[in-house]
Amino acid sequence: MPIQPTAKIWHNGNLIPWDKAQIHVMSHVVHYGSSVFEGIRCYAQPEGAAIFRLTEHMQRLLDSAKIYRMPLPYSLEQLSSAVVGLVESNGIAPCYIRPIALRGYGEMGVSPKGTPIEVFIANYSWGKYVVGEDGADVCISSWNRMAPNTLPALAKAGGNYLNSQLIRMEADINGYSEGIALDVFGNLSEGSGENLFVVRNGVLYTTPLANSVLSGITRDAVLTIARHFGIPVVEQPMPRELLYIADEAFFTGTAAEVHPIRSVDRITIGDGSIGPISKQISEEFLGIAHGLRPDRFGWLTQVNVNTSQPVPA
Ligand SMILES: Cc1ncc(COP(=O)(O)O)c(C=O)c1O
Repeated sequence: MPIQPTAKIWHNGNLIPWDKAQIHVMSHVVHYGSSVFEGIRCYAQPEGAAIFRLTEHMQRLLDSAKIYRMPLPYSLEQLSSAVVGLVESNGIAPCYIRPIALRGYGEMGVSPKGTPIEVFIANYSWGKYVVGEDGADVCISSWNRMAPNTLPALAKAGGNYLNSQLIRMEADINGYSEGIALDVFGNLSEGSGENLFVVRNGVLYTTPLANSVLSGITRDAVLTIARHFGIPVVEQPMPRELLYIADEAFFTGTAAEVHPIRSVDRITIGDGSIGPISKQISEEFLGIAHGLRPDRFGWLTQVNVNTSQPVPA
């Protein structure tokens, strides 16, 4: 989807015009993938708008930066209020928010020593991510997620998304809406940009963090919602074929939200319709995000943006 520019981007503490948010081609990040970033949604609500799990996202940005020895000169509070200030200044909701910290222009060579760290935050309008309203038709990718001792999966780092691109492009070329990668041990890992859930016999399963997955904030929200509803939850390594015999399966992610999977490798999941547990969890998730159900877990940060768009029920 083409980017729709907004008025301002936050850069190292200042709001600057969208077109001025530029880096040099010789910046370290361009050559070596040295960035960490976040993706956050701000939802329109019956009155105003709210950012979903802002603190958790900004904490993950700080965690990703720490893993890559990129000390960010901003605190959790400063980064969080920068996001709120930007969204309110641009006045766009619903929107997607993209904070990114990168190694900039200074020295060349793989070692990042001596390169400045720059932080940008942008926000813009964005719609659905995974195609297939009635459920996505997906495949198991021929690409694995990275081995645990290669690229750290818990860091949401730019370089990791080369692997995601391979998974996603292969899926596209073969006519699927997304690919699911196995880890290097052959167990299920995650989609190119989503965590994976399976329902079988009333139990909700997801892959643990040790299977090379990102510690998804939507994943955590879904686990919390499931426990709240008394649905048994198990985090355990899962073989590929558990997907084929699942009653229900779905992706979770900020972009994907809770997105049902209809088939895997052309094998229909359950009876091919959206299952009751997927539906119950998705309705609660979206209900909270859109301000139509109580914010019982304290996930929303209200922002002062007038939104004229209708709130989907
Ligand atoms: C590889 C990968 N896994 C999982 C997720 C889901 O994470 P979250 O729910 O925090 O958006 C994402 C999205 O950021 C991702 O890129």
